[in-house]
Amino acid sequence: MPLAPTPDAPSNITVLIGNNGAGKTSILRSLATSMSWLVSRLRTLKGSGSPIPEEVILNEASSGSVNVFVVNDFGRFSSDEADIESSCFNWTIAKVKKGKKGFHTSDLHEVGLLADAYKELLSSNKLASLPLIAFYPVERVVLDIPLKIKEKHTFLQLDGYDNSLNQGVDFRRFFEWFREREDAENESGISEEILNHLMDRFGRDPDFRETLQELNSTSRDSQLTAVRKAISSFMTGFNNLQVRRKPRLHMSIDKDGKTLNVLQLSQGEKSLMALVGDIARRLAMMNPSMDNPLEGDGVVLIDEVDMHLHPTWQRNIISKLASTFPNCQFIVTTHSPLVISECKDALVYSVESDGLVQVQSQYGQDANSVLLDVMNTHARNANVTKQISDILDLIYDGLISEARVKLADLSENIPSDNIELARLKLLLRKKELKSDKNI
Ligand SMILES: Nc1ncnc2c1ncn2[C@@H]1O[C@H](COP(=O)(O)OP(=O)(O)OP(=O)(O)O)[C@@H](O)[C@H]1O
Ligand SMILES: [Mg+2]
Repeated sequence: MPLAPTPDAPSNITVLIGNNGAGKTSILRSLATSMSWLVSRLRTLKGSGSPIPEEVILNEASSGSVNVFVVNDFGRFSSDEADIESSCFNWTIAKVKKGKKGFHTSDLHEVGLLADAYKELLSSNKLASLPLIAFYPVERVVLDIPLKIKEKHTFLQLDGYDNSLNQGVDFRRFFEWFREREDAENESGISEEILNHLMDRFGRDPDFRETLQELNSTSRDSQLTAVRKAISSFMTGFNNLQVRRKPRLHMSIDKDGKTLNVLQLSQGEKSLMALVGDIARRLAMMNPSMDNPLEGDGVVLIDEVDMHLHPTWQRNIISKLASTFPNCQFIVTTHSPLVISECKDALVYSVESDGLVQVQSQYGQDANSVLLDVMNTHARNANVTKQISDILDLIYDGLISEARVKLADLSENIPSDNIELARLKLLLRKKELKSDKNI
């Protein structure tokens, strides 16, 4: 299964669609399982990633495996054959059911080579970047905020991988990390409060204003700035995410000028903020020397990307992910026609019982066409669709009084401004006039 970017889908987005139980989540889980071996080998020489759980091996099979093929040229962009060869890494993770004889074996040699290449990079440059690797399962929206933080953590670059493949959003860690960096930011810079006060008092002088703004931006922590920027660019009207200590430890955000505790946000707002915040935090940790850590590399898997989102946000989410995190490769699943009709160069697969089918670009299609053509479902209630088509038949057959009765019946059940209803009324009226003339 090739993942975008491919020659005919030159974006970083692969979208999986398909019925309930088609196997979309299974594909994401398999990828997360494979990639966990890269993360563990980055941490330690012989580190073990997640095993394949026995219950996911096909019931009738005695073993199963996941094979992944990764291309990573470390930015060389070379067309030299030897360079291309050394940019490809292929590894297999296999599992045999207990007490059975299996047909699959693991081969983890090349994941070790890929991890070594990163380690070499880090030994020659302590500030080198690492790739973000994260999986956000459906159970991701837990805003677990600690009321007390007992001890201070030190956050190392590799800690950006903590729980990134098994838990999704780690909001507790997000909170602790944010607080710690904010403390350091406040110690080294001017506090927000003093800054606002100075701005109010002397902000009318343009020179002073400019100096103050400059001072403010240089004293801001670049990692926190990245997170704040990601959240406000995703969620219009939201800004100034911060940790507050009074009346008790909590995280607040300004929404259209009003300050709210993040726990007061709606489910959709919480889920988006937590997701974007988590990706941005991990990227910030992985790319310590980049001016804009949001431009860091990575592979991000998101199950049901449209979960909890209003249609307007469903439409935007893919393009916002791609523009906010331009170098991350996203593999997402969805049940929303709006998500796929917004993807310009995305690679869309329909997961079907007999395998994967690549779906042609649905960019610009209306939601009804996507529902009909790609998701194999009716654009409207099947019963109403049948009634409309029956009435049409009656009108065309000239059975005017029967059509009139059925139309009156339908009008009682659907909204009076329904466009099909208006069309039927018009057709019936025309037919009535015509038959009057004939008499
Ligand atoms: N060991 C197994 N052997 C055979 N089939 C299995 C096994 N384990 C799970 N399944 C089936 O595989 C499917 C896996 O579904 P998966 O969770 O990947 O679907 P999905 O496409 O994500 O669906 P949804 O849209 O509902 O989330 C389920 O239908 C399940 O019944
Ligand atoms: Mg699923």
